[in-house]
Amino acid sequence: MSANSSRIQIVAEDITQLRVDAIVNAANRSLLGGGGVDGAIHRAAGPELLAECRTLGGCETGQAKLTRGYRLPARWVIHTVGPIWQGGDRGEPELLAACYRNSLRVAVEQGVRTIAFPAISCGVYGYPLDQAAQIAVREVRSFLAGDDRIQIVDLVCFGGEVRQAYEQAMGT
Ligand code: APR
Repeated sequence: MSANSSRIQIVAEDITQLRVDAIVNAANRSLLGGGGVDGAIHRAAGPELLAECRTLGGCETGQAKLTRGYRLPARWVIHTVGPIWQGGDRGEPELLAACYRNSLRVAVEQGVRTIAFPAISCGVYGYPLDQAAQIAVREVRSFLAGDDRIQIVDLVCFGGEVRQAYEQAMGT
């Protein structure tokens, strides 16, 4: 079992360009697209992505659902819905943790070996970066400790402060 942290990479890339088995989308409960990384993924994947999303009947916060990647280099997209930050005492930490756990579970069920996550909830949904990064690193490390099937998890930073937050979280 290789060390969990060596299987986690911090990458400063546009997630829509990554050649990984699956990229995770920070979606909303409708799964019908939006701005931010959701908008970028739908633009890059093309209209077939939305067509497949329409068949899924939405997604609850903290849950994750799989679609194909269509025109993306990634074969699969795992759509997860992060919590909207409301101060931290409305279950946001548990829901954000569930996004990472459920996305990784869906990934291994599909035979995914390499997966990339954006900083879920850290944009429009307003989750404080440092707290979100701690949760992301903790949940990914914990999952990788118990499962050897995923080889690499990329934590994607889009913007300087995100990288800093992840590096801080990895250092702990
Ligand atoms: N590649 C990687 N990361 C990206 C990209 C990209 N192309 N574009 C944006 N990001 C980053 C943002 O900088 C942020 O750090 O993804 C992180 C998540 O931000 P959002 O996309 O705003 O997602 P979120 O905060 O979870 O809000 C979700 O926004 O776009 C809508 O439909 C979406 O309603 C949902 C809400």
